[in-house]
Order: sequence, then structure tokens, then C-alpha cells
Amino acid sequence: MKVLLPLIALALSFPAFADPDVDIVDIEAAGVRPLRPLVDSERLQASISKNKLLGHAEKLLEFSKLSNNNRAFGSKGHNATVAYIKELLDATGFYDTHLETFVWPYSESNVSFSTEAKTYSTAPFTYGPGGDIEAPLVKVNNVGCTLEDFPQEVAGNVALILRGECEFGLKVAYAGAAGAAGAILYNNVNEGFGSGGTLAQPSRPEGPYVPVGGISGLEGKALMAALAEGQEVVGKIHATTFSEERYSSNVIATTKQGDKGNIIFAGAHSDSVPAGPGINDDGSGTISILEVALNLPRYRFKNAVRFGWWTAEEFGLVGSEYHVERLTDEQRQKIALYLNFDMLASPNSGYFVLDGDGSASGSPAPAGSDHIENVFLDWYEKRGLKTGQAAFSGSSDYDAFLNVGIPVGGVNTGASGVKTVEGAEWWGGEAGVAYDVCYHAICDTVDNLRVPIWEHNTKAAAHAIATYAKELPVGIPRERRASVASLLHDSMTYEERSHHACDHGVVTH
Ligand SMILES: *[C@@H]1O[C@H](CO)[C@@H](O)[C@H](O)[C@H]1NC(C)=O
Ligand SMILES: *[C@@H]1O[C@H](CO)[C@@H](O)[C@H](O)[C@H]1NC(C)=O
Ligand SMILES: [Zn+2]
Repeated sequence: MKVLLPLIALALSFPAFADPDVDIVDIEAAGVRPLRPLVDSERLQASISKNKLLGHAEKLLEFSKLSNNNRAFGSKGHNATVAYIKELLDATGFYDTHLETFVWPYSESNVSFSTEAKTYSTAPFTYGPGGDIEAPLVKVNNVGCTLEDFPQEVAGNVALILRGECEFGLKVAYAGAAGAAGAILYNNVNEGFGSGGTLAQPSRPEGPYVPVGGISGLEGKALMAALAEGQEVVGKIHATTFSEERYSSNVIATTKQGDKGNIIFAGAHSDSVPAGPGINDDGSGTISILEVALNLPRYRFKNAVRFGWWTAEEFGLVGSEYHVERLTDEQRQKIALYLNFDMLASPNSGYFVLDGDGSASGSPAPAGSDHIENVFLDWYEKRGLKTGQAAFSGSSDYDAFLNVGIPVGGVNTGASGVKTVEGAEWWGGEAGVAYDVCYHAICDTVDNLRVPIWEHNTKAAAHAIATYAKELPVGIPRERRASVASLLHDSMTYEERSHHACDHGVVTH
């Protein structure tokens, strides 16, 4: 039986209902319609526990064991992650959830490169084809971003190309168009390409892809010098690749309560790279917003909250773009802002806040992004925690939202970038070492998580979500946004957009 009382009377006769610690489920079991307390940032933060975060992390690690220790999009491990998120949300009865399922080409490759003198540490590129090549290296002029940069002698040989200025995929396609048998990209800094990169699109109109690998800038320059002296250097490329069409899903969950004309949107990517289980990248962000979502049902709030867990982020921000591209103008107008959480528990972490006002990068994100940045900055400052700024470099799922004029923000703890001496003073950890040494690697397991920092960042996420769900401040503009066609800028290259090229956006000031 359901006892229906006027809400005022209910509040007066049961003042305990104003206490968020009262278990809503018990009240519902007693057959009384609960009056949820108004969302309160401090209370919501207090409900975040590191044991619960870790419990979910253990689950994700377990799922990765279903598919060769990874949760790459559409794999068994990834699908189990998606199902886990949806089941937990559905059990609350608090959300309208749905899966956005689509097909995308999956590819995974290994590559080795050697010369007579030396075997190189060689990074693979996603969507690079397989093959065995043994042919002289030929220097490509400039950076290989136009077909004219490729001399005739490239035909049948291995094109040696400097990184930079345009996407990897374009360079490799031009190498193919010029008749090269293979291509070696060398970095524009001394270091190597780490765990690799992506050609970002399964194919391109400019030409066919050829087997490709990436080597360090130092080694590339040495090879260039040898070629400049007129030496013949024969390179051997051995590339293997596995490709298939894969179906996978975004999970979208929207609170049933709240104003759906002013949606507070928070997102994280649910997939990992094929190289590892991705428990920090981005199991951490996935779980942080999941825990916030699971605690929200204790409250009432003014604005609807929507959560998105994106698939195939690691293959070029595919899931979030798929979602945003399909929003009608009406739906886009209703999203007040978007918050992104990608890597919140790096083992050698910093606290990076996305640079909404453009004070570090010089290019501000859509109006309102400055407000979001300040909400995060205040949270850290009040706790005596120093923050660095992260540029909107197009390396995570905020990008699609930013490009259609939606205010964006978020925090992260750093990826393959290297901690400075000052950073180590601020945040502990080791200077001269990457924020996450297990970035995109097999060791990105539960042991890779810096748990106390993760807990902080999850509370910061809870704070931002609670703050905006409760009330949209004037700092978040709500007048009608310009049409997408008038906003879309194509300055962002595929390389820049790819998560593999991440970290160039992290600066410490
Ligand atoms: C993963 O989920 C998709 C979408 O539901 C499904 O089509 C696909 O078969 C699943 N893959 C595996 C490996 O189970
Ligand atoms: C790449 O190498 C890994 C590790 O040896 C192996 O498990 C995987 O099957 C290889 N993939 C391809 C496409 O060669
Ligand atoms: Zn990520």
C-alpha cells in the first residue's frame, strides 16, 4: 500500500527525512513516498568511499581477463564493463538508460624495424597494414604533409618521414600514393613513440596505407644523417595486423527527475587500448562518475543529470563523436555543460584542471568553460591542493562537445607526460618520471592506481555535478547557441584528436 501525504505535511511530521543519511530504500519499503533532501555537495562527497571505488576497479580488471587482459572496444572485457555499468544504474530505478550501439573497424598491429646495423624499438600504428619489406630507406622532404614532399625514389622503397604538422594517417597515405613499400616515422622529439599511435581512420582517399612503424627522434636523425652522406641503408619492416568490424555501445543514463532543458552532462570512456586493461585509463574516470551516479538517487535537484560512458575513445574519440554528431539542434541546446573525467588516479599523479578560460593555452573553450574551471580550482584550493592546467588539446571526449559550443571542463592526473621538479614538490611522487608509467600498457591494473588522489578527484567530480545540478549559475550562459554549422572548425587534425597523441596538452602552469 502506498500512503500519499501532502509533501509539506510529510516534511513537517518527519523531519528526519531532511537528513540524507536516512536510507531512501527503507522509506520506500515502508510504503511512504520519500521527500529527498536537496542535493548537497558536502554530503554527496562524503558518500564517496575508496573501498567502493576499488571494488569496481577489481571488477573491471576481472573483465579484462575475458579478453586477453584488455577492454578494447567491443571485446568481451569491454562488453562486460558496459553491461556492469548499465545493470548497476538500472537497479537504482532512478535513471532512464540506453545503449547507443554501432559498428566500427577494430585493428591491432605489431611491427618491428631493423637495419643491418641495428634493431629498433618500434611503435605500431593502429590501422597500419601487415607485410614484410626489405628495401632501402629514402628521405622524405619537409614533413611529408604533401605528395610533393615524396621524391620519386620513394617508389618501391621505405619512406623515412619526420613527425609533425599533419596527421600520421595522411603521411602514410601519401607514402602509399608515392608507391613506397613501407614507411618509418621518426619522432620530432628525441624520445620514441611509446606504445604507438593511430592512423585514426581505417583508410584515406589520399592513398593506400603501407606497413609502418615509429622510431625515436634521435634514431631518426641518425638515419637521416647517414642518408644525407649518401650511404645506402636497407631497412626491414615486419608488420602483422588483425582487423575486424566490431559492434559496441555507449551507455547513456539520464536522471528521471530534474529539468531536462538544463542537462548537466558528465562523461568518461569505458574502453581501454588493446595493449592493457586500462584501469587508470579510463577505468578510474568510468568508476568515479559511476559512484557519483549511484549516490545521486538519495537527493532531489533542479537540473537533470546525464552520464555518458563512451566506447572506442582509444580509436579516435569515436563514441563521444558518434553521440554528439547525432544530437538534433534542440537536444544540443538542452545540454547546459559537459564534464570530462579521463585518468583520475595516475600513480605519479598531478592535479590538472582543464583550462576553460584559455589562460594557459591562449584559446578559451566555449563561454561557461571558465566557470567550470573555477568550480574545480576552488575545490582544490580550499583543500590546499595545488593544480596545474591541462589544455583542451583534443585528446579526450570533451572535444566533440567543445566543437559544438557546449561549455566543457574536467580534471585529470596526467598520462605519459613527465612530472617536473615543481610538480614533485606540489604533489609528491617523482620528478623526471611519467605521470603514468603504465599508460596504455599491460601494467595499467589496480596496482597502478594512486587511490587517495583518485578519491579526491572523485569528490571534486561529485562537487561539480552537485553544484550544477542544484542550480545553474549565471556564469553558464543559457541563451540559444549558434548553429553547429557556424561553429564547426576543422583546425583539429586527426593526430591531435587521437588519444594516443595525448599529453602534449598537459602543462604545469
Ligand atoms: C559486444 O557487444 C556487441 C553489441 O551488443 C555485440 O554485437 C558483440 O557481439 C559483443 N562482442 C563480444 C565479443 O561478445
Ligand atoms: C601482437 O603481439 C602480441 C604479443 O606477442 C600477441 O598477443 C598478438 O596476437 C599480436 N597481434 C598481432 C596482430 O600480431
Ligand atoms: Zn583515456
